Amino acid sequence: MAMNEKIDWSNLSFSYMKTDYNVRCTFRDGKWGEIEVCSDESISLHMAASCLHYGQEIFEGQKAFRGKDGKVRLFRIEENAKRMQNSAKGIKMEPIPTELFVEMAKKVVELNARFIPPYGSGSSLYLRPLEIGITPRVGVNPADEYMFIIFVTPVGPYFKEGFKPTKVAIYREFDRAAPLGTGKWKVGGNYACGMGATAKAKANGFSAALFLDPKEKKYLDECGPANFFAIKDGVYITPKSESILPSITNMSLQQLAEDMGLKVERRPIPVEELDEVQEAAECGTAAVATPIGEIYDEGMNKTYKISKDGNPGPVTTELYNRLRGIQLGELPDTHNWTMVIENV
Ligand code: PLP
Ligand code: COI
Repeated sequence: MAMNEKIDWSNLSFSYMKTDYNVRCTFRDGKWGEIEVCSDESISLHMAASCLHYGQEIFEGQKAFRGKDGKVRLFRIEENAKRMQNSAKGIKMEPIPTELFVEMAKKVVELNARFIPPYGSGSSLYLRPLEIGITPRVGVNPADEYMFIIFVTPVGPYFKEGFKPTKVAIYREFDRAAPLGTGKWKVGGNYACGMGATAKAKANGFSAALFLDPKEKKYLDECGPANFFAIKDGVYITPKSESILPSITNMSLQQLAEDMGLKVERRPIPVEELDEVQEAAECGTAAVATPIGEIYDEGMNKTYKISKDGNPGPVTTELYNRLRGIQLGELPDTHNWTMVIENV
């Protein structure tokens, strides 16, 4: 983006835009090196790098927000660092120390200050931290060397509907598969297995696929890019599952729901229970809290009508407003979730 080009901040989609800089750090000879500031968008990689064959790659998502007071904030950034360390351990990659992760996140935002959407635009600066194994490997072995990169891109809403009820679909023929978690480890990376379901959902006019538990296909898991929650008789219910990503947004919304006096239940949710919920939504950094108005279950040939009047439900709306309010510095950050970035 040339210096004098104008960005239409209020009409951004969730897509990649070239910014000025990315930051990189390489793990080699048993230690992390210096942080490099780079304006090149490409990387030079050995064709046998372990990320290319055996999928030694993990990523995170985070946003920087320009607040009402003009300050720029990150949201629970240490939680992203912690989750990425867990992902790394899950597939034998080198964990990135929290201090390095946070320092690089702050730096990349500072360096790209002109790409932080203004307050009131509804957009934010998305950070995409990613780590890859770069050692040439042919046998199935973890790499010795790793590259950690954070790039940024200004984004608008993940779903074109914005904060309006969306439609999602359940297809039992697809598995979300192992990458999002086998047993103890929940790995944020390699989403390719879920792409068939999402592509089918989009081709049929849905905004996302809703996955069921891979073992029995009886319980709700999560959507392609986000966790799932529902409101049932004043209770915030969300799936407890071994095969979903532990969403930082979901964790935060559970706390906000409790602050609002709601009970929170994390438990297996059978698909049929959708008949009894008054509200449903997908939640995540990119999705924030996007209401779900309708859920189509292809296998059972059944549509669950969640939103009766085509509007977001009152509880989802209040949760959304509280979360956004904290992220944008409009509401007191009583849980100490935000970190202000100086120099921007
Ligand atoms: N589930 C999946 C599959 C995701 O990709 C994401 C986004 O990162 C989430 C859930 C939400 O996680 P978070 O709220 O930490 O962004
Ligand atoms: C995020 O919410 O940050 C994610 O990583 C979701 C991604 C699939 C866009």
